[in-house]
Amino acid sequence: MINKPPPRGGFLVSITRCVAPKSPTVTALQKADSIRAHKGGRPVTALTAYDYPTARLLDEAGIDILLVGDSLGMVVLGFPDTTHVTLDHMLHHVAAVARATPKALIVGDLPIHTYETPAQALETARRLVAAGAEAVKLEGGIRQAEKVRAITEAGIPVMGHLGMLPQRVLEEGGYRKKGKTPEQTEALREGAQALIDAGVFSIVLESIMPETARLLTASLAVPTIGIGCGTQTCDGEIAVITDLLGSFPWFVPPFATPEADLASATRTAVARYISRVRGS
Ligand code: KIV
Repeated sequence: MINKPPPRGGFLVSITRCVAPKSPTVTALQKADSIRAHKGGRPVTALTAYDYPTARLLDEAGIDILLVGDSLGMVVLGFPDTTHVTLDHMLHHVAAVARATPKALIVGDLPIHTYETPAQALETARRLVAAGAEAVKLEGGIRQAEKVRAITEAGIPVMGHLGMLPQRVLEEGGYRKKGKTPEQTEALREGAQALIDAGVFSIVLESIMPETARLLTASLAVPTIGIGCGTQTCDGEIAVITDLLGSFPWFVPPFATPEADLASATRTAVARYISRVRGS
């Protein structure tokens, strides 16, 4: 039997399209430490990513952190909020992002109901790490401190998340601004300190009044990474990738600053394709 060469550009191209470039191994702890070292220095840049091509593109652009956030429930899976996200959803998307072997730190969200006790939090964190996450994030302050400690003591870096907590949106009856009063501000500060004492390397601050976010940032020992807290109030910023790219036009949070309009670009491209195929 004669071995035929692969069709030009066929076999080889499909291999090279799927294999990400290898980078020298930097451990997850080293990456998390280098994020922590940004405190008071160059702002930390973070974006969500839920799939392989997006992770590669964001990493090639030089982003510091790729968060496989449970926002994937809304902007990828079509649920009304993040309370529908399961661990299986997260594992599937963390694995896709990890296949991009990014230089950026891959953080995976612990979904709702998967960290009710320290033992369960550690087990969930381990499963995310086995799927390719290098760090995990969970929502809440003082009442999560023992869970954070269980995870950090096992050598897995943890990112905190304070302010508006999307996993509590149903209890709270909507997405509300936090840190409006001195009492709320003090509760946030105490929560942040409990997370820091438990070993977090950074804390996301979501939808906190700009002045409060600035005060917290000045008083905390780890980088704060803001979303919906105003500009230059934190040690860095995080955005949901679909908000940045304008690819989820049906709900755009008031604080989003799109840098592109991929929804329009997609509609135009598809309309052209339909015309071309129909010959019209
Ligand atoms: O899930 C997510 O995308 C997040 C960000 C909003 C910080 O937690």
